[in-house]
Amino acid sequence: MATLKEKRTCGQRCEDFGHFVWNSENGTFMGRTPKKWVYISLYYVAFYVIMTGLFSLAIWVLMYTLSPYSPDYHDRLQSPGVMVWPNTYGEEDVEISYNMSDKANWMKMSHILHEFLEPYNDTKQLECNSYNCTKGKYFFQNTFSAPHHTKWACPFKQSILGACSGIEDPTFGYNCTMPCVIIKMNRIINFLPSNHTDLPPYVNCTILDGQDSVAKIEYFPDHGIMDLSYFPYYGNLAQPTYVNPLVAVRFSLVGEKQAKIQCRVVSDKISYENIHDPYEGKVIFYLKAVK
Ligand SMILES: *[C@@H]1O[C@H](CO)[C@@H](O)[C@H](O)[C@H]1NC(C)=O
Ligand SMILES: *[C@@H]1O[C@H](CO)[C@@H](O)[C@H](O)[C@H]1NC(C)=O
Ligand SMILES: *[C@@H]1O[C@H](CO)[C@@H](O)[C@H](O)[C@H]1NC(C)=O
Ligand SMILES: *[C@@H]1O[C@H](CO)[C@@H](O)[C@H](O)[C@H]1NC(C)=O
Ligand SMILES: *[C@@H]1O[C@H](CO)[C@@H](O)[C@H](O)[C@H]1NC(C)=O
Ligand SMILES: *[C@@H]1O[C@H](CO)[C@@H](O)[C@H](O)[C@H]1NC(C)=O
Repeated sequence: MATLKEKRTCGQRCEDFGHFVWNSENGTFMGRTPKKWVYISLYYVAFYVIMTGLFSLAIWVLMYTLSPYSPDYHDRLQSPGVMVWPNTYGEEDVEISYNMSDKANWMKMSHILHEFLEPYNDTKQLECNSYNCTKGKYFFQNTFSAPHHTKWACPFKQSILGACSGIEDPTFGYNCTMPCVIIKMNRIINFLPSNHTDLPPYVNCTILDGQDSVAKIEYFPDHGIMDLSYFPYYGNLAQPTYVNPLVAVRFSLVGEKQAKIQCRVVSDKISYENIHDPYEGKVIFYLKAVK
């Protein structure tokens, strides 16, 4: 056979090729009948359609499970941290110490609080958070019904902080022995502080050291409650106008006028005994007033 092939002339080869392209005897085109070619084409069309479908399905499933409004993986704590304002530091701990007879000195403290409360200004809150929230209940939102495809956020007005709002007393009590501090809990997306819908988290401050220096502790709003309507938080893209609920605490200092204080946010889902994070669920600070 091999010898035969070698002896073929160029013309014969061309003829062979012509036969291969179109063989009129068998009725084949490129070695296959038109019917077979149709089947092969259909096979490949189906193959690519299915591959495209699978690929699209995979992408769709991925996009469906990914929410553009909240990160999928966050290594953040599952129990929130707590902070205190004025956030002035001593050697290493939070140390709120002031001289009530030195105006420039205590003005620093009240300035920090005024600045911190700026987003909570009543008129500002009326403008950006006009939704009338139902107090005492979680504010679950499955739809994006607020303007610009976002979710509503409940207003938190500065005036709720009463005597510690800085409205009636712009000194926040730092010109005398009744300083106010503000407690804020960090946001955690989708976090619900309590599994009981009738028990909101509240702030409880205790004196760790210097009991004789604190005559009275008052909370604003009453009982130091953080209303449930501020939870859950859906993230900054979904709720761009969200503000954290706050609790202000006013201490009436007497005698030595210095104390070590712990303020805890109490709720069944908020832990506070994490040795790796002293700020989880609570904040400890020194409070000291001099003349
Ligand atoms: C507090 O401020 C007053 C007035 O500036 C000053 O006389 C006094 O020494 C200060 N007290 C302390 C403990 O620094
Ligand atoms: C809130 O803002 C308004 C307008 O900007 C201002 O007049 C008012 O003094 C502010 N209130 C407080 C308590 O700072
Ligand atoms: C908000 O809702 C409460 C209870 O439904 C109602 O009493 C109150 O008047 C409403 N406030 C505004 C500003 O719509
Ligand atoms: C502190 O400031 C408030 C408000 O300005 C004022 O009513 C109060 O008399 C002041 N207290 C002292 C001790 O100066
Ligand atoms: C709430 O949570 C606590 C601890 O996580 C659990 O012991 C309790 O049974 C829960 N209560 C309800 C009503 O789910
Ligand atoms: C606040 O904490 C103290 C100390 O843990 C506790 O004795 C007290 O009952 C708490 N108060 C409230 C209202 O939970």
